[in-house]
Amino acid sequence: MQQLGKTALVVGASSGIGKAIAEQLLAAGWTVGLTSRKLENLAPLLSKWGQQARAKVIDVDDAEAARMGLRAFADDLGGVDLWVLNAGTGILNRDFSWEPERQTIATNVLGFAAMTDAAVHHCIARGAGRIVGISSVAKKRGHPLTASYSGSKAFVSLYLDGVRQFVRRKAPKVSVTEVAPGYIDTPLQQFDEAFWVASADTAARQIIAAALAGRKHAYVPRRWGLIAALLSLMPR
Ligand SMILES: NC(=O)c1ccc[n+]([C@@H]2O[C@H](COP(=O)([O-])OP(=O)(O)OC[C@H]3O[C@@H](n4cnc5c(N)ncnc54)[C@H](OP(=O)(O)O)[C@@H]3O)[C@@H](O)[C@H]2O)c1
Repeated sequence: MQQLGKTALVVGASSGIGKAIAEQLLAAGWTVGLTSRKLENLAPLLSKWGQQARAKVIDVDDAEAARMGLRAFADDLGGVDLWVLNAGTGILNRDFSWEPERQTIATNVLGFAAMTDAAVHHCIARGAGRIVGISSVAKKRGHPLTASYSGSKAFVSLYLDGVRQFVRRKAPKVSVTEVAPGYIDTPLQQFDEAFWVASADTAARQIIAAALAGRKHAYVPRRWGLIAALLSLMPR
């Protein structure tokens, strides 16, 4: 197994799963680059962790600026050993309005590809690194109120499948991990019927472990692998 340094870059570190991942890495002694669309959203982490935490404003909806901004941030950090591609959105769209569909696809599809671009080229150039991207169990099945969310997460998972194969040819030591969480207790989770809701801390612990172990796929918490298998079989 490759010897990893201890510098991470968490895209979308101000809230929920990304914030919990950043906190756990910081507590374990990592230097962590944090991003948000607003610097003030990162203020609590910055004041708590001092020099160990560095911040940059990144809006993945501006894909071109996000690609370049993330590449520059990774260089400023002196190289990134663990990339956490976490920024994402999810909106309950009860009347299939256009704006929530457009927004979800802009962030979760084009924005996700922009984050991936920065991570892949950085890791290939160094010949090392771990990349973890956050999909969802929603990738398994469409939902009437979140069609674009399920579709965008199917994109994330299949995209990472191809990216992993590309990266393996160029830099065999670089790993690409696709994580599919179930319901996690964060501001994004709005379903009344949610069950088996796990804390962001539990999700973060399992995501970090999967990424550092270089796993290809992980359901978080693990038992969601069972639900994912059932979702594929259940009639619509
Ligand atoms: N919660 C769940 O049940 C669940 C389940 C499966 C998968 N997920 C996935 O887990 C990831 C994290 O979600 P969460 O539940 O932790 O949600 P959250 O608490 O709403 O956090 C979302 C994070 O993404 C950032 N972000 C949102 N839009 C962005 C944009 N356009 N550009 C840059 N950053 C942006 C936010 O930062 P700012 O607002 O500060 O910019 C925030 O840090 C998402 O990809 C989500 O789809 C969540």
